[in-house]
Amino acid sequence: MPSPPVPSAYRFPDEPGAIELRAFTHGLQPKRVPEMMEHFTEDWRRFGVDAWNSVPNHWRPQSGDPVGWWTLPTYLGDHFVAPLLGASSGTCILQPSVHWTVQCLLSTPEVAARGSEVLVSGTAFPSVLHSAKQWVHLRTLRPRVIPSTEDHQVDQAAFLEAIGSETALVALSHVGFTTGTRLSSSFLKEVAQRVHDCGGLFLLDGYHAAATMPVDVQALGCDLYVGGLLKEASGSSGTAFVYLREDLELTPRLTGWFGDAAPFEFRSSPEPHPDVRRRFLGGTTAVAPMYHAVEGLRILLDLGLETVREHSLALTDRAIEHADSMDLPLRSPRSAETRSAMLLLEVPEAERLTAYLKEHYIYTDSRRNEVVRMSPFVWNDADEIDRVFEQIDQALSTGEYRTVPVNTSGPVT
Ligand SMILES: Cc1ncc(COP(=O)(O)O)c(C=O)c1O
Repeated sequence: MPSPPVPSAYRFPDEPGAIELRAFTHGLQPKRVPEMMEHFTEDWRRFGVDAWNSVPNHWRPQSGDPVGWWTLPTYLGDHFVAPLLGASSGTCILQPSVHWTVQCLLSTPEVAARGSEVLVSGTAFPSVLHSAKQWVHLRTLRPRVIPSTEDHQVDQAAFLEAIGSETALVALSHVGFTTGTRLSSSFLKEVAQRVHDCGGLFLLDGYHAAATMPVDVQALGCDLYVGGLLKEASGSSGTAFVYLREDLELTPRLTGWFGDAAPFEFRSSPEPHPDVRRRFLGGTTAVAPMYHAVEGLRILLDLGLETVREHSLALTDRAIEHADSMDLPLRSPRSAETRSAMLLLEVPEAERLTAYLKEHYIYTDSRRNEVVRMSPFVWNDADEIDRVFEQIDQALSTGEYRTVPVNTSGPVT
């Protein structure tokens, strides 16, 4: 087993021996977060409004780089998000959410000028799928939803077939959030090639992929890559990001004065900022999330994403071995090529089993009462996986979990 786990870098819930397997929804809190939030309150107190122009560099203190609240979205984009995606400096910026970014993108005349269709898979997350459907009323764009296969996968042949001269934009999820399936790089490259041959743009939603494995946006050939640091990168909310291919010209109509070329001249007409990334900012940026945003990512980048991926595969391998020995069907892929960090197990009364495991301080979640989801991550080790499956075995063989009240802690993504 490769070098993680790194539990000492994280803060755990209070229950002794708790096993947190929900990296796919909200990672453990990095130890440096309270200190970073303290920096936020102190900078606010000490510098007041001047903090917009200059604060001490808490993010890369050794660098000597000047930073201020204005420049943090691009500064963190350059020094933390770009290395996550194999992207160059100048191409990434923090965003409030994926939903916002996709809506900005759809508001650009440059997308509509490329064709009339936005191609999305029926398996896409609502931030993408709903946005494509909502914009149909405002633009000359038509959403074209490619239905998923019976087993909820992207219909790859139908997708490739659908790309044509009418295609303005193709949007795909790098990892399917309901299946844990990672789309292969060869398929994604084929999509990129076809979209570009037809004059369209290619957007990849990288939630559940970025921060769990090495990603190379340039090799994949996508024009935009969105994602967030909320989950595996332990960033809490308000920490989404976008990568925009170099030289991509986009002028979102859904933009704000923070995306203007001269915000403090308060001109009567807007003028897009020369840095295209900046045009994806809206009104006043929420500053507090940027203080803790990259602390989880820092841990993963320090470990190396290859190592993170190897560890994840080793733990999901072990979990699959246990599941096989208990005859529990997998709903997520078996092969390492298409597996993500997320494992889905089909179990009867999945919600009750999740509630039962929670009573034993093992944190997973369930979907539609059909599957239990788990993402063993860098803070977990092989012994924990063994303990989890011992507990599942105990629950299933005795049936004792069937009497546990289902007290869902609310929906998780
Ligand atoms: C695939 C995918 N895309 C996007 C999101 C979240 O998007 P947003 O930042 O709009 O909340 C999620 C979150 O659960 C997701 O799983």
